[in-house]
Amino acid sequence: MATKSSRLSESRPEPRSIPLHADLLSDLPRSGTEKLAVGAVLLRGFAAADAATLLVELESVLAEAPFRHMTTPGGYRMSVAMTNCGAAGWITDRSGYRYGPRDPATGKPWPPMPASFSQVAARAAAQAGYPGFIPDACLINRYEPGARLTLHQDRNERDFAQPIVSVSLGLPATFLFGGLRRTDRPRRLRLESGDIVVWGGPSRLAFHGIDPLAEGDHPLTGRCRINLTFRHAL
Ligand code: SIN
Ligand code: FE2
Repeated sequence: MATKSSRLSESRPEPRSIPLHADLLSDLPRSGTEKLAVGAVLLRGFAAADAATLLVELESVLAEAPFRHMTTPGGYRMSVAMTNCGAAGWITDRSGYRYGPRDPATGKPWPPMPASFSQVAARAAAQAGYPGFIPDACLINRYEPGARLTLHQDRNERDFAQPIVSVSLGLPATFLFGGLRRTDRPRRLRLESGDIVVWGGPSRLAFHGIDPLAEGDHPLTGRCRINLTFRHAL
C-alpha cells in the first residue's frame, strides 16, 4: 500500500495474511460517540475514511521534519518519536516544554499543516461541541511497540478555552483518560485507527496517557501507531 512507505516506521515486517475472522471483524464499520466526561468525547471511526489521505500527507511533513526522540527536562529520552506541523510545534529539551515556530533540528519553520489535517480536526471539534476550532499546532506522535506516554496534562497552550483534538491511526492503543488530579483513577479505552478523542471545557486539563503499545502490524502503518494531536497553541 502506498502509505506504508519509508519514513513512517524504523522496522517493518512484511505483511502477513491474517485469519479470516479477524479480517471480517476489522472490516466492520465503527462509529458512534462515547461521552468520556463533561466536555470530552470519543468519536469512533470519525477519521477512518480520511486515514489513508492523512498518512500520505504525513509523508511530505516527514520529508521536511523527520521523527526524533526528544529529551524531557529531567534528561530522559522519550519512547514516543515526535515531530510537528503548523505555525507552532511542541518541543521538549533540557530547558523545558514549550511551543516554538521552528524545528530545532533544522532551524527551519515547521512544515505547514496540510489542509486535510486541519479540516478533519475542525470537523471533529464541531461534532464534539466546539465549533470554530482552528488548530495552529499539530504534534505528530509515533508509537512503536513498547512506547508509552505517562499520565500528563496538556498545559503549554495559551488559551485553555480551546479544545484538544487527538486522531489515532494504525495500530490500536490503550488510552488512559483521568480526571483533573493525577491521582484520579483513569478510564482505559481502546483507540483504533480512525478514532478521534476531543477534550475541552471542564475536561481541558484532564490527565491522559497511553499504555505501552502492543506488538502488531497494521495495513496502513506497519508496526506502529501514529497520533495527530491538534491544538490552538499560540
Ligand atoms: C498526547 O497526549 O499528546 C497523545 C495522546 C495519544 O497518543 O493518543
Ligand atoms: Fe497530551
